[in-house]
Amino acid sequence: MAKTTTAYVCQECGSSTAQWAGKCPGCEAWNTLIEEVTGERGPGKPSSDGKVVALQTLNAEIPDAPRISSGLAELDRVVGGGLVPGSAILVGGDPGIGKSTLLLQAAAELANAGHTAVYFSGEEATAQVRLRAERLGVASAPVGLGAETGLAHILKTLGESEKTPDLVIIDSIQTLWSESLESAPGTVSQVRACAQSLVRYAKRSGATLVLVGHVTKDGQIAGPKVVEHMVDTVLYFEGDGAHQYRILRAVKNRFGPSDEIGVFEMRGDGLREVANPSELFLGERDNVSPGAAVFAGMEGTRPVLVEIQALVAPSPLGTPRRAVVGWDSSRLAMVLAVLHTRCGLQLGTYDVYLNVAGGLKITDPAADLAAAAALISSFSGVALPVGNIYFGEVSLSGAIRPVGHMAARLKEAEKLGFTAAAVPAKLGSDAEETGLRLEPIAHLSELTANFPPTGDM
Ligand code: TYD
Ligand code: MG
Repeated sequence: MAKTTTAYVCQECGSSTAQWAGKCPGCEAWNTLIEEVTGERGPGKPSSDGKVVALQTLNAEIPDAPRISSGLAELDRVVGGGLVPGSAILVGGDPGIGKSTLLLQAAAELANAGHTAVYFSGEEATAQVRLRAERLGVASAPVGLGAETGLAHILKTLGESEKTPDLVIIDSIQTLWSESLESAPGTVSQVRACAQSLVRYAKRSGATLVLVGHVTKDGQIAGPKVVEHMVDTVLYFEGDGAHQYRILRAVKNRFGPSDEIGVFEMRGDGLREVANPSELFLGERDNVSPGAAVFAGMEGTRPVLVEIQALVAPSPLGTPRRAVVGWDSSRLAMVLAVLHTRCGLQLGTYDVYLNVAGGLKITDPAADLAAAAALISSFSGVALPVGNIYFGEVSLSGAIRPVGHMAARLKEAEKLGFTAAAVPAKLGSDAEETGLRLEPIAHLSELTANFPPTGDM
């Protein structure tokens, strides 16, 4: 029998201390330490049932991890090429974004392909899940459905099933409770204890475990970071109410590249995969307005073309407004400062709005040049040539620095019918032959000096 001890666990960051304090020593938040019972032996104490582990070398032949296709190519891509048996995946996202829909579709596809899939819903009654399945047209798929929140019952059910399921979905981890703890479901200790037991089950049995996690207001998966550390893969399902697009983004992946994205469109009958996101993001393009520039960006290993829109307007306010959607506001401030200081563009009395079309959130630093082009175009009231794309990082001196994956960006633009590309003057070694007319730019002032640029208007 494990010795029971108590510890004070911070409800914000999950760090634990032996003594109560007003301020968490981990994250410095006030009044967040709560007493909790931990059923574990203290760390570092040798246990009588320990065994000697045979140490291995690093250079042995490793067979590729076997993978199971989820039936959704976009989901497979994001997890690194299919679900890895015995791995644990956390899917986070705002309420209503479509997590349950995505996972029910994946479970149904998997079950229809002859695998076993089990779906435990703690948030919705079986009738609700069935209704959704009907709406998605997958009601006949042989998915095992359970409406249960008790961890012990779930583990018992999984343990007693004849065959280990290939996929186990828990929707959501915040609704589970373990009776070994007094605290309420959704608290750090409950979330941690339940996730730990389930991850252990997955490792032991070889089932792929998917945990759904809600996101708190400040964007973290609730039951804070503790679950992220435990699982192999963390995916975020993003999007906003105004758009039909949903982006599944890997932020941590032990079995593949992180940063990878999968793109879906939410329809009346469920999520549809979007195989070519650039076409989608450029679909509603307004070709003639000043202030729009097409950015050839990278999302993980995939090039994605997207329109960056800027509006620069004289401000009636003493302190002009700067608003950004889909990009980092401090990067906008930096690009504006460079345009002002290095290129002589007087934007101090103007309101500046910047928007990434389609609801995409860009983190690629190569967007600087496209944002700058959009700003200059809006400021001067002259539209950019429709056949042009832009990418490059702007340094504080105004120099345009080379970025990665040039060849992939150019190739995608060529495929979509673009004819010219404004690129960093120092092209990296990976910019191969391209059918696009390249316009190398060494310094941002070249863009302002040669404005409006020549091209296919
Ligand atoms: P849901 O999967 O329940 O979101 P989550 O589990 O992340 O909270 O998705 C709910 C939203 O998706 C809801 O607003 C309705 C919408 N939806 C569709 O547009 N089409 C569909 O086929 C389904 C099932 C849901
Ligand atoms: Mg849900």
